[in-house]
Amino acid sequence: MVENQKKIVVGVTGGIAAYKACHIVRAFKEAGDDVTVVPTEMALRFVGKATFEALSGNPVSTTVFDAVDEVQHVAVGKQADLIVVAPATADFMARVAAGRADDLLTATILVATCPVVFAPAMHTEMWLNPATQANVHILRSRNIVVLEPDHGRLTGADIGPGRMLEPNHIVELARTVYDGESLQPTLVGKTLLVTAGGTREPIDPVRYIGNRSSGRQGLAIADIAVQRGATVFVVAGHTESDIPSGATVVRVESAREMRDEVERLSGGADIIVMAAAVADFRPEHVAESKLKKGTHTDALSTIHLVENPDVLRSVVDKRELRELSEHAIIVGFAAETGDDVGTVLDYARAKLAKKGCDLLMCNDVSGGKVFGQANNRGFLLARNGAIINIADGSKHVVAAQILDVIEALNQADLPD
Ligand code: CTP
Repeated sequence: MVENQKKIVVGVTGGIAAYKACHIVRAFKEAGDDVTVVPTEMALRFVGKATFEALSGNPVSTTVFDAVDEVQHVAVGKQADLIVVAPATADFMARVAAGRADDLLTATILVATCPVVFAPAMHTEMWLNPATQANVHILRSRNIVVLEPDHGRLTGADIGPGRMLEPNHIVELARTVYDGESLQPTLVGKTLLVTAGGTREPIDPVRYIGNRSSGRQGLAIADIAVQRGATVFVVAGHTESDIPSGATVVRVESAREMRDEVERLSGGADIIVMAAAVADFRPEHVAESKLKKGTHTDALSTIHLVENPDVLRSVVDKRELRELSEHAIIVGFAAETGDDVGTVLDYARAKLAKKGCDLLMCNDVSGGKVFGQANNRGFLLARNGAIINIADGSKHVVAAQILDVIEALNQADLPD
């Protein structure tokens, strides 16, 4: 048995997105997990039992009348560490909300004590129907995670919320839930503005000064916030990660463009998280045509730089001028290394004071830690001096922890 192997149940219900469940089964299997697929009868009209058996390496049944001697309808749910149902149709969610147990999947869910995640997939009208929304509300109140579906093209002509999230995205969010983080709708009614990625400061039409930021941490914060029900705007520089569905994304190149977009969007924000790696300097002159070696050697070998605006500081100043909500919570990021003069914490304290934000998320990046890595960790430094540890985890797990602290601040629960 693989170390830390989880027992995962992938439930599949009867919608056209059922074929995508195959990718979910595969992703969990590739991570070394033990996967049991429990489809409904309707799901098997879309994808055959043999496909799920081959991909999972485990037998597949839909009914409580198979393997009766093993009391399968109780055993599967009791042994599971995580249950993911994708796609979850409107009809299936109605059955679970009503407490039904008329097939193996609903019976499994009714006995389960592990985390349960549903990835809905249906037409927009069905998703928005008050009956479905009431069922979603009931399911969430019972601690089942009902993921916010994607907006996008559905089967047929309609466009709107209801499309199932992409398989890898579902797996990432389900793992975040398994790791103990909440995706319950605690940010409904809140607007969050996040900056992510690295800025690129042009030298000429083909060259720029950039940095190594992948943008993954900022985008993970946006993603978790969308799932917690916030209205999310992302001002994104260069990123190497999927843009979260459900967020409004504005692309920028340079620090000055980022500043302009942040100023435009910050007015209505309750939470502002500046996770972008903003270039501190930019070339003073940007050549209109490509600089050529030989002809422009001087211009290329000596690029004169001027300082960029500090986007974070400008937002803090705007709050002081009451140009944005005085209750807006502003969070900065700092990647620091300790040296002979000071520790990471010393530098973090100085940066928080200089920037004037409410929280500073600090990473120790000595020796190249964090950049480009799948995991992250660090600590949040609050204005009152409190240090809140952010435990090692995926960027989604770290994002959830950061949002937990912001939400606690929002509710004025943090000590002064
Ligand atoms: N930041 C910003 N605008 C800048 C530089 C930084 O908004 N021109 C923000 C970053 O998004 C981050 C925080 O400020 O949230 C800290 O970034 P960092 O680069 O560490 O700050 P600097 O002031 O540039 O400090 P240092 O001299 O250590 O680079």
